[in-house]
Amino acid sequence: MDNVELDMDVASLPKQKWVGDEHLVQFGGFWFVPQHMKLIKRVINHFTPLPTDVILATSPKTGTTWLKSLLYSILNRSFKHKLAVQHPHQLVPFLEGPPDSDELSFPTASLDTCRLFSTHISYQLLAKTLDSCECRVVYLTRNPKDTLVSLWHFMKKRRANQPWTIDEAADAFCRGVTPYGPYYDHVIGYRALSLKRPENVMFVNYEEMKEDPHGHVKKLGDFLGCPFQEEDEVKEIVKNCSFEVQSSYEVNKSEQSLIKNLFPYNSFFRKGKTGDHVNYLSNELIQRIDTLTKQRFHSLDFMYGI
Ligand code: A3P
Repeated sequence: MDNVELDMDVASLPKQKWVGDEHLVQFGGFWFVPQHMKLIKRVINHFTPLPTDVILATSPKTGTTWLKSLLYSILNRSFKHKLAVQHPHQLVPFLEGPPDSDELSFPTASLDTCRLFSTHISYQLLAKTLDSCECRVVYLTRNPKDTLVSLWHFMKKRRANQPWTIDEAADAFCRGVTPYGPYYDHVIGYRALSLKRPENVMFVNYEEMKEDPHGHVKKLGDFLGCPFQEEDEVKEIVKNCSFEVQSSYEVNKSEQSLIKNLFPYNSFFRKGKTGDHVNYLSNELIQRIDTLTKQRFHSLDFMYGI
């Protein structure tokens, strides 16, 4: 599809208001920033994983940056020191990010052992790609209320001149109108896949990772086929990838960004805590989100998010 066709195509997609005067467009049941559609469709139509590939899949603001650091360190142990000088998003780019070279190349982390990719695209849209391959997927999710609060801060930081209240953000979140959302469908898609193919898909959540990072790093090492022999090596990775250490690096404090004027590196490090939503959401909003969580997750016997 050439650019003109694609622009016309994007213009014809359903639209919803997002932050300020910006809109998201709906494609295949999910919402996207219109300007990202071309690269997203390119992944959906042309990305062919190898059986040795590792793909980190997440919804925005669920801890992607943290998992990028961890996966990079686990898979690439002799180069983990690079995390002190390069942002995790530089080391592990998004599949749907701008390609380095030819039309059909995809941005990947250059590791010795395998290719490591990251994506925010839902399983529903990547089903054909992922079902046809034995590659491994690590899916990370996070409590919906903390995900929402993190997203709200993130967008406000970039759009300082556009008023966007937490009530507006929560309403959009509950209607599913967030980039790569609906959040609930995103989680449900990858969760179902992890239940169907546990040997290929590992489903983890931010809260459990925070509670026991050591145990999770070991499990990730086993899942990725590179188990740890030394406990000290696990300890070192956990420490190097911790919020405290990561957010202290100059590169991660910087105003630089991968794409000019879009999301400075420091905007991916805010508090790094669980339960921060209590400081921002009213009881009414908490109740609205909890009710939705019960309807969407608990009805599937997935007791998560409240
Ligand atoms: P908060 O806004 O709640 O602080 P993403 O990487 O998917 O954009 O998610 C960003 C969230 O992950 C932010 O949450 C950020 O602070 C947190 N985060 C970033 N690095 C982290 C780390 N090393 N450990 C734990 N949380 C981290």
